[in-house]
Amino acid sequence: MTVQNAGAAEDLANRLHPGFTLGVAAAAFQIEGSLTADGRGPSSWDAFAEKPGTIVDGHSPAVACDHYNRSDEDIALMRELGVDSYRFSLSWPRIQPGGTGPINQQGLDFYDRLIDKLLQGGISPMVTLFHWDTPLPLEHAGGWMNRTTAERFAAYAAAAAARFGDRVEQWVTLNEPVCVALQGYAVGVHAPGRSLLFDALPAAHYQLLGHGLAVQALRAAGVAGRIGVSNMHSPVRPASKRLSDRLMAQAFDLIFNRVYADPILLGRYPKPPLPVRPWFRALGNIPDGDLKTIHQPLDFYGLNYYYPMKVASGRDPAEAGAGQPSAMSRLPFHLAAFPEYETTGFGWPVAPDHLGVLLREMKDRYGAALPPIFITESGASFPEPEHVLGPVQDSNRIGYIADHLGHALQATGPGGLAHDVELLGYYVWTLLDNFEWAAGYSQRFGLVHVDFDTLERTPKESFYWYQSLCRSRRA
Ligand code: NOJ
Repeated sequence: MTVQNAGAAEDLANRLHPGFTLGVAAAAFQIEGSLTADGRGPSSWDAFAEKPGTIVDGHSPAVACDHYNRSDEDIALMRELGVDSYRFSLSWPRIQPGGTGPINQQGLDFYDRLIDKLLQGGISPMVTLFHWDTPLPLEHAGGWMNRTTAERFAAYAAAAAARFGDRVEQWVTLNEPVCVALQGYAVGVHAPGRSLLFDALPAAHYQLLGHGLAVQALRAAGVAGRIGVSNMHSPVRPASKRLSDRLMAQAFDLIFNRVYADPILLGRYPKPPLPVRPWFRALGNIPDGDLKTIHQPLDFYGLNYYYPMKVASGRDPAEAGAGQPSAMSRLPFHLAAFPEYETTGFGWPVAPDHLGVLLREMKDRYGAALPPIFITESGASFPEPEHVLGPVQDSNRIGYIADHLGHALQATGPGGLAHDVELLGYYVWTLLDNFEWAAGYSQRFGLVHVDFDTLERTPKESFYWYQSLCRSRRA
């Protein structure tokens, strides 16, 4: 197998400090399938995906990558890849089908075997407790708009800690609570499909509260591993120097980034600029005790970075002619393009330089309160065939990963713009092409191609490139 850019992999490998973690990341609902196997209960996403018009081309998550039955094969792929760590999520409805009450031992057993096999293969497990699949009975009771979900989440975290606390080396409480609140509760393009706009902010707060309570539960259980959270962050820029664009960019930065990071790292919500203060009304009278609970000391902070965002004031002109305007079109701002950058399959700008900018911004904002960082997700989808006879030649993905990791290392290295940030590792999103939420199987992010008719896995050129990175570093 010839590996393009092998030189680039070696150069990068030489720049990794000893102990730097190279990994891949995934999430239960996107890969497992087997939605009714061994006592698993339904989740908010099972129900959402069944509604007509929610998922591109009506794709179903019922089988996904069939990882539930093929985890051995997938671990073998990771061993061949040579990664140090695998970040995956536990499915709450597999472990506790009702979201409260009895624990399903068979659900725990699946992850127990997975963790043991990873460890036997020399791969360190990073476990995410919540990657969006809320048990359906809890969703019916209001989901993350209901404060008790935070308490239920902590009880489930305690059950996971009791079983896996001796072996899991990294714990992530929540994955991207911003996406759940915004896409799920504010504009309704993800589960549970609600369109509450700014009234969705309690879904942010109760997830954060759940995070704090879960950290307390993990600590009380005496887990051996390090504890953190994964937040998606994007540097936000105004589309122009106009006051209205600058105000909307500042407000969007709060809604997207700071509402999720400030309470965790600083113990307070950001103060909104006066003209947009009414947007934050739903955050209302937060009891002081909540902020204390949310503000738990963390061992690391997980950063998911995909792309920077440019914000313009006014409703989205692209929605103007749309037959059925989305909830998004009711917002007084919209995202504008970055014409200077190439784009991914999703149309997202490829802007690796902004990863360095983001790391600088994080340190400027949080200073000594910023724990060491794992980049817990970084990756890209590109249009690729559904069926293949050999490795997809995805030099675009190789370039994406090499440039993002390269910029992260440069920024955090001596003399770099974020030299005072401690970077612990980098996880590629993702090992396998998988169920990309509302985009179904139409967006392929994997290092490994999956044929969704035969479920055959075929490593792409990027797999061999990442392998050469893992190997050259070890030599
Ligand atoms: C972030 C999410 O955590 C993950 O589930 C998703 O597949 C990737 N972004 C790509 O959109």
